Formats: sequence, structure tokens, C-alpha cells
Amino acid sequence: MTLSVLLNPYEYFEEIRPYGPVYQMQSHDALMVVGFDEAVEVLRNNTDFSSVISTTGAGQELPFEPSGSDISEQIEAHRNEIDEYGLVVTYDGATHSDVRSIANRLFTPKRLKANQAFIEQLADKMVKEAVATGRCEVVNEMATPFVTLVIADLLGVPEEDRDKFREVIDNAPPPGDMESGEFDGPSPLEFMGGFFYNYLQERREKPGNDILSELATATYPDGSTPDLLEVVKLATFMFGAGQDTSAKLISNAMKYISEEPGLQTQLRDNPDLIPALLEEVLRLEGSTKTTFRLARRDTKIGDVHVPAGKRIMVALAAANRDPRRWEDPHAFKLNRPRIREHLAFGRGVHTCAGAPLARAEVKILLERFFQHTADISLSEEKHGPRGDRTLEYEPSFIIRGLANLHVDLKPA
Ligand code: HEM
Repeated sequence: MTLSVLLNPYEYFEEIRPYGPVYQMQSHDALMVVGFDEAVEVLRNNTDFSSVISTTGAGQELPFEPSGSDISEQIEAHRNEIDEYGLVVTYDGATHSDVRSIANRLFTPKRLKANQAFIEQLADKMVKEAVATGRCEVVNEMATPFVTLVIADLLGVPEEDRDKFREVIDNAPPPGDMESGEFDGPSPLEFMGGFFYNYLQERREKPGNDILSELATATYPDGSTPDLLEVVKLATFMFGAGQDTSAKLISNAMKYISEEPGLQTQLRDNPDLIPALLEEVLRLEGSTKTTFRLARRDTKIGDVHVPAGKRIMVALAAANRDPRRWEDPHAFKLNRPRIREHLAFGRGVHTCAGAPLARAEVKILLERFFQHTADISLSEEKHGPRGDRTLEYEPSFIIRGLANLHVDLKPA
């Protein structure tokens, strides 16, 4: 993809759409799925499609030459050689459901309720501080530290280490970034993995009452104990997976709140509409544009033949604007029928484990913004006048989100 497409994929997807819901990409030997029903079909079909390349993209060279009508054995033989393999989102079958069962423990209603009190206090404090200065850069000064501290609390990261985590995340490029060649700091996953290894090892030896102890001693559904490294990778991935995605949801939502005529007044009058706002922002500008699958055997998507070994880009952002599924798909509309069927959190067994947390934390933060301000507007100084705004997006093939968003805040 060219840089302009990375920065604004929507026009590109609309250029592709007339060719059909499943499109043979010109730049890679991969199919791009832009249709809603077809995207659901792929995400739900874990028999014919493997998630082994889900994070690495259509350009990922396979470490083997696919041969025959079923490459399942080749995938199993070479999994470990595929980039980024080893994250829950790249697992298939029983390995995936075992690890996912541990992730699900964290997002029980009881656990989320305990975390909610922390989120409310934090949101209140951060928003009040920002309002006191009259302005805020939403992405880096507000959203990223906010979501980092929330997940640190949920996972039980000790207070004294939280700043170090934040620093590494603040300095790292987003996933799928195409301009990060010069970035030479530690990868956040590597850095945090070291910490999680120590926490979890200590708690395996001497469990306490905290969440990390619960993770360290969790067993698979068959009663067996996971390898420590597997739990370390899961905790680390969860810490990382919600960072950019949730932070970008906050800033994308804030953009609509400040720019969509009449919306801010409507939300201030009726804050119960915030969840509906978030769903529409997720549909229209969800923070995860794409995910990837590898055809495990000869199969079909819709009526398009797909040979084993074909890489598939599931363009979630395009499916979420498919006119066959969404009326007037590029328009912002609150309370569309069956809006929660959008694909911003994926679908099927790999559906985002953190979706309940993302929805809750962003809702609480926005509530506090409405409570403590009388008006939120984009900074003309930084983004130019209404009608001629300059907004900078991340050059990532996975993440859709603003690189920065400056707002002026009028106190309540
Ligand atoms: C707006 C925020 C978020 C968005 C848009 C988002 C999006 C997604 C998507 C599209 C997937 C599926 C990928 C695939 O099928 O290949 C996914 C998976 C996942 N997400 Fe999120 N995510 C968000 C927030 C979070 C948060 C806050 C967490 C954790 C605290 C999280 C943890 C995960 C995990 C663990 C998976 C892997 C699930 C699996 O493979 O079974 N996400 N997310």
C-alpha cells in the first residue's frame, strides 16, 4: 500500500469495491475482502482459514512453498518460523481455545466492576487536570496514558513499574507502522515481556491474592498447567493489544464529537447516547483496519475460488462501510439498526477479548469530558479552521488513528 492509502484507506477501498467483495490485490499475491458478509464468512471459518499470519500482513513471505490442496501440515511444521507467531491472536484450534480461556478470566463482569472504580477516579483526575489548562493533546497526553494505566490496574502491574511501561509505549510506533525503520528502542512487547516473566514466575512460586497470581496459577480447561512463557506472552499481548486501539478510539470519537454538527449538544443533553456514539465511530473509523488469514485448504469466499496457501487481507474497515449491509455507509448516524454487528472487534473465535474493557473505559472518559467542560473544539491553531482542517494519521496498515489531536476545552 502506498503512504496515501495508509493515511486514508477509505477512498482506496471504494475504488476496489466495484470489482466485487473479494479482490485479487495487485501489489501482493493476496486477496482483499471488502464485503461485509464475505469478511464474516472468513472470520468465522477457522477450518479453512488459519490465523497464523493475522498480524503480519499480506506481504508476509511464508517460510515454505505451499503445495497441494491442503497445507495444514506445512503450517504446523513451520508455525514457529512465521514472524510474530506466538501471540494468542495467531493461534489456531485447541492451542487458541486453551490460551483464550485464560484471557477470558480477566474480563469477567466481577473483575471489570472492580476495575471500573479505578477507571472512574483516573478519568476524573486526568480530565480535570486537562480542563484546568484549557486545552489538551488527546492522543499522547490523554488517551495513551489513560488506557495504559487502566490495563496496568486490570492486570495488577505494581505501581512502581507503571511509569516505565508508559515510557516505552509512548516512544514506540503503532503496530503495522510503515515508517518505523529508524525506531531502535526496545519493542514494547519485548520490554514488557521481561517484567511479566518476573511477576508471573514470582507468583507461581508464591501466589498472593492479586490478578497476576490468578493468571500465574490458571489452568487450561483440561486441568493442565500452561507453560509459564505462554502466560507471560498472553499478559504481555493483552497489555499491548489495547494500547493503540483504545487510545485511537478515544481520539477518533473526540474528532466526531468536535466536528459533527449538533452531535456534541445531543450527547451533552443525553449522555446515555455515548455507547451508541462509540459503536458508530467503531464502524466508521474503527482503530483496527485489517486482519489477515492464510487459506489452509482449497476453499471459497462467496463464490470466489481460494487456493490453499493464499493470503487473505480481511479489510474490517471496508466491510464496515459495505453498502450492501449499511445504508448510506459513509455517513455518521447514531443508533443504526444492529450497529453492534460491525466488525471493528473482529468476529468468531478471535473476537477481541478486550472489547468490554475498551467500551467501558472510553465511555467513562468521555462522560467525564462532558461533565467537566461546556464545550470541546478542535484547536484552530494546530489543525486549521473548520472546513480546512489538517489532521495527521498514523502510517500503519493495521491501525486507523490520529497521530495527534489538539482540542480546546471550555470549563463547565
Ligand atoms: C477499540 C479498541 C480495540 C479494538 C478496535 C480491537 C480490535 C481487535 C480485533 C479486530 C481483534 C481480532 C483480530 C483477529 O481476528 O485477527 C482483536 C483481538 C484481540 N484483542 Fe482487541 N481491540 C481493542 C481493544 C482491546 C483491549 C483493550 C484489549 C485487552 C485489554 C484487547 C485484547 C485483544 C486480544 C487478547 C485479542 C486476541 C483474541 C484472540 O485471538 O482470541 N483488545 N482486537
